[in-house]
Amino acid sequence: MNEITNEILKLKRGKNAVILAHNYQNPEIQDIADFVGDSLGLSQQASKTDADIIVFCGVHFMAETASIISPNKKVLLPDLEAGCSLASTINANQLKKWKEKNPNAVVVSYVNTTAEVKAESDYCCTSSNAVKVVNAIPKNKKILFLPDRFLGRYVSAVTEREMEIWNGACHVHEKIGDIDFGEAYKKHPDAEFLIHPECGCSTSCLLKSQMYFDCAHSHIYSTEGMIDFVKQSEAEEFVIATEIGILHRLKKIKPQSKFYPISEQSICEYMKITTLGKLYNSLMNEKHEIKVPEEIAIRARLPIERMLSIV
Ligand code: 13P
Ligand code: SF4
Repeated sequence: MNEITNEILKLKRGKNAVILAHNYQNPEIQDIADFVGDSLGLSQQASKTDADIIVFCGVHFMAETASIISPNKKVLLPDLEAGCSLASTINANQLKKWKEKNPNAVVVSYVNTTAEVKAESDYCCTSSNAVKVVNAIPKNKKILFLPDRFLGRYVSAVTEREMEIWNGACHVHEKIGDIDFGEAYKKHPDAEFLIHPECGCSTSCLLKSQMYFDCAHSHIYSTEGMIDFVKQSEAEEFVIATEIGILHRLKKIKPQSKFYPISEQSICEYMKITTLGKLYNSLMNEKHEIKVPEEIAIRARLPIERMLSIV
């Protein structure tokens, strides 16, 4: 174990801290974390930990969510520049205007949103429980779904619900929609294709309207859903259509299998901004604390709690 890893672990024990890391984090961050998972799993961990400090190795909205559900804990984000292009596609004023035009609609916000947007929402969801959340809403209610249009179309297709969908996208996953999956399928005919619902291609695959490849071998999952699929699958090859950070965990789970990213360029720079040095600095100096103003946190808590209760 190298010196910085030792120091981080010592600080963590001394301060009763827990390190949470998203599946897209750099390998060395995943390896030192107490828990690695998807947005839903990380929120669940943040809500039940008895640590005094949560160091969130992920992006800003994830640390905000942890702070909202665990207001008595100190939540640290090692680098404040860890943003999210998808969360930036809608702000609270834009949502308020949308709601004014649809006064009786139910607002379902993907967890990739700011605390202010969550405070204007009825439900939050993650990619792993979005279908269940929408199914829990009475059929006679109109739904405003935000901000990811690909996840929105996917959920609308699976639930057979008409929804108004915000026109947002993540810059990493949107580009995956432009990739020629046919080529990948020819190269890896026996592989299972695991696709994140934020990808530009997920809806067309699901609807079979634009057949890039054999849909029988493709599965749409959140990042943790991909992990679970691989654990139980007998396949030996997998093509992974999401941010490449997840390959580290997949290879650890099944070292004997082959994992091919649909593109080596599928990299989220916000997720990669966290380094061991920044993590050490964050724990040592208790920087940068993420706090959500109480009047916003109170309103944002209810949709998040609803999200956590529907799994
Ligand atoms: P997951 O909840 O599937 O991990 O997705 C989070 C995310 O930011 C996807 O880009
Ligand atoms: Fe946001 Fe996309 Fe990065 Fe996920 S991969 S954190 S949605 S920018």
